[in-house]
Amino acid sequence: MSTTSAWVNPLRNAKDKRLPRIAGPSGMVIFGVTGDLARKKLLPAIYDLANRGLLPAGFTLVGYGRRGWDKQAFCNYVREAAEAGARTTFNERVWEHLAKGIEFIQGNFDDAGFDKLSARLSELNTSRGTGGNWAYYLSVPPEFFSDICHQLERVGMSNNTESSWRRVIIEKPFGHDQASARELNEIVNAVFPESSVFRIDHYLGKETVQNIMALRFANQIFEPMWNAHYIDHVQITMAEDIGLGGRAGYYDGIGAARDVIQNHLLQLLALVAMEEPSSFAPAALQAEKIKVLEATQAVHPLNKTTARGQYAAGWQGSEYVKGLREEEGFDPESTTETYAACTLKVNSRRWAGVPFYLRTGKRLGRRVTEIALVFKTAPHQPFDQGQAEALDQNAVVIRVQPDEGVTMRFGSKVPGSTMEVRDVNMDFAYASAFTEESPEAYERLILDALLDESSLFPTNREVELSWSILDPIIEYWAGIGQPEQYRAGTWGPESADRMLRRQGHSWRRP
Ligand code: BG6
Repeated sequence: MSTTSAWVNPLRNAKDKRLPRIAGPSGMVIFGVTGDLARKKLLPAIYDLANRGLLPAGFTLVGYGRRGWDKQAFCNYVREAAEAGARTTFNERVWEHLAKGIEFIQGNFDDAGFDKLSARLSELNTSRGTGGNWAYYLSVPPEFFSDICHQLERVGMSNNTESSWRRVIIEKPFGHDQASARELNEIVNAVFPESSVFRIDHYLGKETVQNIMALRFANQIFEPMWNAHYIDHVQITMAEDIGLGGRAGYYDGIGAARDVIQNHLLQLLALVAMEEPSSFAPAALQAEKIKVLEATQAVHPLNKTTARGQYAAGWQGSEYVKGLREEEGFDPESTTETYAACTLKVNSRRWAGVPFYLRTGKRLGRRVTEIALVFKTAPHQPFDQGQAEALDQNAVVIRVQPDEGVTMRFGSKVPGSTMEVRDVNMDFAYASAFTEESPEAYERLILDALLDESSLFPTNREVELSWSILDPIIEYWAGIGQPEQYRAGTWGPESADRMLRRQGHSWRRP
């Protein structure tokens, strides 16, 4: 039998999307490298990428900070962080190779420091073959963005040239409201074009979050019912059992809505509610998310459709834990919320009349992030009285973490001589369906930034729109005094339960 189509060896085909993507010649400078995020997430992720063979041979990691470290001291720090936090097994040979490209430069965000940095990066371009390609990771509070960007510009290290690229990777918080986010965008975009700006929302780096798109757009069974005709409401939950000890500097005055709803939860909403993009190319995907965010608004009146709380001391499992106001560094009168819930609507034909309930909290019953699409009840149920009493609404639940997978809840006949029905679950679990372990979100995102793949990074417009959805809620809360207290280890303040009850619904107990 002959065939006319030429067989292409996928191992030879550079465009084959199944092949691992390896970053080209490049280096990364991390500002704020002594902070928690770098130690717990960024440095381990860089080691994991090196261990998986996804970094270029001459990859160079430059730490920039005020500490009086030399190269060896910084190397020790990176090694300790990698040994403690990396996902893959520590390999001495990989480490030795990576360590050759590790440097530390001591300095402030001033002329002297950046002159030194610029001179050293030029040398490294030659000695390490980085090709002049640098990603600058701003793991620092936003008040330093301006100084860093201007210094990079001053020393000529911010602009792309014909043969080399410069990109900036930015951590949240990206502003504290729409106006401040806009200002930050102006500062950053005055130096780096938007195509060179990579804003991190680490939820987008999670496999289960990307799977929302696979679930919706690779299949035929879900999409026909993914709309207001079938869906009654949507619940997006990000619950954490941890408290805020040690994070007062960042969190007091920020609170759960700014910390998590503005970014992670609104991005989840956008992926669940958007229309199918024409491709997964950055512009196509971002355009669909922007459309949804433009159509999303808080439901009023806010005293009935939102809830907030602050954890008080209580039992978290077998441990008795402090309340927020007793945590070190927090104002004993703090009004910062550690629990936030709101009701949003998406003004589109697909979602007309479907409430989206978002909630997040610290010191809740357990750590779980999930998106539940809860369906309307069947229009007619030909059962005798009592037979379908135990039946809840059908649901598709995307389990983002920790038990990654998808659950479908539907009614089934209870074995026996009567037609009694009750809920059963059908489960897909990553752990049993796949043998590969999921990469950490930061591995994926750092690699994507080095590869110039920006699909998983929110644009300036998305960030500003997300603030505009949240701003009225935060403003309303600012005017009503203390948040309600809830005991650690519970599922949040009673007002959150009332908020749903009023709308005829109840929170899932995940
Ligand atoms: C961060 C928040 O963005 O996400 C933290 O600032 C939160 O407050 C963290 O704890 C949760 O991330 P993950 O990946 O553990 O769900």
